[in-house]
Amino acid sequence: MDRIISLTKRRGFIYQTSEIYGGLANGYDYGPLGVELLRNIKELWWKKFVHERNDMVGLDTQIILHPKTWEASGHVGNFADAVVEDTVTHKRYRADHLVEKWIQGKEEFHDVVVEEMTIEELSEFIKKNNIKSPDGNTVSESKKFDLLMKTHLGSLEGEQDTVYLRGETAQGIFTNFKNVLDSTRIKLPFGIGQIGKSFRNEITLGQYIFRTFEFEQGEIEYFFDPEKEDWKQLFKTWQNAMWNFVVQDLGIQEKNLRWRRHTDTERSHYSKDTYDLDYQFPFGWKELWGIAYRTDYDLKQQMKGSSVDLRYTDPYTQKKIIPHVIEPAVGMNRLVFMTLCDSYCEENDRVVLKIKPMLAPYTAAVFPLVSNKQELITYAEKIFNQLSAQYHTYWDDRGNIGKRYRYQDEIGTPLCITVDYESLETHTVTIRDRDTMKQSRIAVKDVVSYIANIIKK
Ligand code: GAP
Repeated sequence: MDRIISLTKRRGFIYQTSEIYGGLANGYDYGPLGVELLRNIKELWWKKFVHERNDMVGLDTQIILHPKTWEASGHVGNFADAVVEDTVTHKRYRADHLVEKWIQGKEEFHDVVVEEMTIEELSEFIKKNNIKSPDGNTVSESKKFDLLMKTHLGSLEGEQDTVYLRGETAQGIFTNFKNVLDSTRIKLPFGIGQIGKSFRNEITLGQYIFRTFEFEQGEIEYFFDPEKEDWKQLFKTWQNAMWNFVVQDLGIQEKNLRWRRHTDTERSHYSKDTYDLDYQFPFGWKELWGIAYRTDYDLKQQMKGSSVDLRYTDPYTQKKIIPHVIEPAVGMNRLVFMTLCDSYCEENDRVVLKIKPMLAPYTAAVFPLVSNKQELITYAEKIFNQLSAQYHTYWDDRGNIGKRYRYQDEIGTPLCITVDYESLETHTVTIRDRDTMKQSRIAVKDVVSYIANIIKK
């Protein structure tokens, strides 16, 4: 984990936010390479789940919605963690995380299911077993800690015009359900996808970009008529789509993935059944992507809250129904983190990110063999200009070729193209493969199709 973090900082994938002020807990920025990886993953998600399907449309809704949205959805009051406070340092911790850590490796507690415990049970367990904070001090009773972040809109100091930064992108989809029905020709079953920032008052520190207070979600609300579709079948189909995206499109190793069903206590207030697709991060199996059967809970709640009829009218029978929903919801930042962890390799004297070529921040790098021969530079520049119109291409004419290769390995660039003296005479270049380190000589006119073939992998 430390080596992955060090690489991501060293090479400009991820920086601690506001680092010059000492940072901000649970906040990270994406550097020149991280932003490319994040964008590539988001674009692929959008392509696969919105563009390549005829039963999906996209949406981009506000971060700040009418506050009644969150009352209706049940988030105000229900969207909370159990938190304890260190009685000396006053640092706060999630009670379930404290208990989880404490029971680790203690055989006599192997049957304790932390996810099943209520706030009171967590308090009781902590007291009975005298569980201390990580600093070794006693902790307070568990208290409910609201995850929704509050802010004030257009209010004078002292006035209370509370609004919330959205805790999930989903509610913007439900509140626009009627708009989408009225403005498109879409019919059930269909889904609405959205990628955007969500915010949560997370108090757990550490685990890098796994859990942050500001993050980007990719959520799909898939609406259907429960009398016409079997929810269990649809749920399974979406589970398969999620698995395939992770394995085939992101190139993640299947041995690092598993499904886990939520227990009754753990399941969110809106869900009838929930599974997590877990990834084996360096700090253990953790949720990557959730899928929930939200039934007609949200549309009903938003209908009640707004008094607007959000029912769907069947275009053939004119029957009105409130559709049910299956929701696959993922954090784009977790997809980035997983991709970095899964592709990180140390091989002999090199570190290499074996990212799927299509997702790599740079698809190719172009090098003139030496930097003091103008003919080589001019020739290499021509190739760079041609490639960069289609692919994100790196230019490097500094230092020896070996060092340039090592740098590109570390940032996951699949191909390095070198222009040497022979290039000027035979119009060929050497092309070096990141994973095999094999170098081949190919004609300059074939470079674009060579790259296109690698990208397909
Ligand atoms: N609309 C349902 C929903 O928001 P969730 O399980 O709370 O469900 C969905 O979140 C996904 O969002 C998670 O599987 C995870 O990938 C991501 N996520 C949730 N909280 C996060 C956080 N604090 N930091 C980063 N990603 C987070």
